[in-house]
Amino acid sequence: MKISIVAGARPNFMKIAPIIDALKNAQRNGENIAFRLVHTGQHYDEKMSESFFKELGIPEPDTNLEVGSGTQAEQTANIMIRYEKELLENPCDVVLVVGDVNSTMACSIVAKKINIQLVHIEAGIRSYDMTMPEEINRIVTDALADHFFTTTTIARDNLKKTGVEPNKIHFVGNTMIDTLLSNLPNLRKPVFFDSNNLNKKNYILLTLHRPSNVDDKESLEKMILEICNNAKNSKIVFPVHPRTKQNLDKISNLPSNLILTGPLPYLEFIYLIKNSMAVVTDSGGIQEETTVLGIPCMTLRDNTERPETFAVGTNELLGTKISAIKPALDKLNSGQWKKGTIPELWDGKTSERIIKKLIEIYN
Ligand code: UD1
Repeated sequence: MKISIVAGARPNFMKIAPIIDALKNAQRNGENIAFRLVHTGQHYDEKMSESFFKELGIPEPDTNLEVGSGTQAEQTANIMIRYEKELLENPCDVVLVVGDVNSTMACSIVAKKINIQLVHIEAGIRSYDMTMPEEINRIVTDALADHFFTTTTIARDNLKKTGVEPNKIHFVGNTMIDTLLSNLPNLRKPVFFDSNNLNKKNYILLTLHRPSNVDDKESLEKMILEICNNAKNSKIVFPVHPRTKQNLDKISNLPSNLILTGPLPYLEFIYLIKNSMAVVTDSGGIQEETTVLGIPCMTLRDNTERPETFAVGTNELLGTKISAIKPALDKLNSGQWKKGTIPELWDGKTSERIIKKLIEIYN
């Protein structure tokens, strides 16, 4: 079996790293399984891409399609044009896509149109919010995939409801958690940690990059002020996504307890989550990482495609109304935040299960 593995944007990289490790293990055990790693170039900065390859030991991509930024349609179309050429020049039996970014959907369409088997890792999650580009990417990818690997039983049930045959759905757990657990011994303290007097549990980590939260300067400013003003004595550490930077740079009077940095390498970012008092975020993956690390998480979104993180984990969905922030921070500061448990099969062995199943299906 020959697999084309697609990765394009930051959240893809931690999802493919353990899959490639498991695949190499299978090769060492004599399995007939080869792969070609395709980076679409959707994320291209050293900080958004290269540093993840280096730290997570992901091999150099066999090719980089270098699509870069653009509107939704431009980026998707460019990925499709270049990936079709790549697949025609380098035929394979299976295309493996992860997650829900534009690269995931674009390459899925290309693969199916040339009749290649399509495997989706992290299939079946749904926010039911069609204003999110990621939701459209998930629906399209799952409409085309031949095999579906899911992180939870909720995702499995979502797929069943859309008529996917149960024998095509494989509940295996979460590859991002494989990466998290295997890297816990390697976490690295960021250089600014000591110089800003950060200590275990004396700061809150903030990330914001959803267009609905960051594309309007006024509401971004209000959100940041509300968080900083209600954090009691905590500092707020804010690694800024390039999209968010565009409007953040226009805000003149930022609060003094706000510590800004650029996007951080994986090992430093997880160090910051693990040692924080809490995380405030609009990311998808961070809801999962905080749940596994047992760190309180406040999600500034009206919905989530990861409901298990608030059903059993440490996550609470605050919505996007500014008024929800203070009560949540008060609850945290009074020590009332819920303790969570870890979702089923988020045990660090998901990638092994995926490769074993792929060999069973295709070899
Ligand atoms: C993308 C994904 C989102 C994921 C996020 C994580 C889609 C639809 N969205 O959103 O699911 O959570 O990545 O980061 O695929 N930029 C840089 N350097 C880079 C990459 C981007 O400066 O390396 C800039 C771009 O020029 C653009 C902005 O960041 O202005 C947004 O990048 P884009 O890839 O379009 O979407 P994200 O918001 O990053």
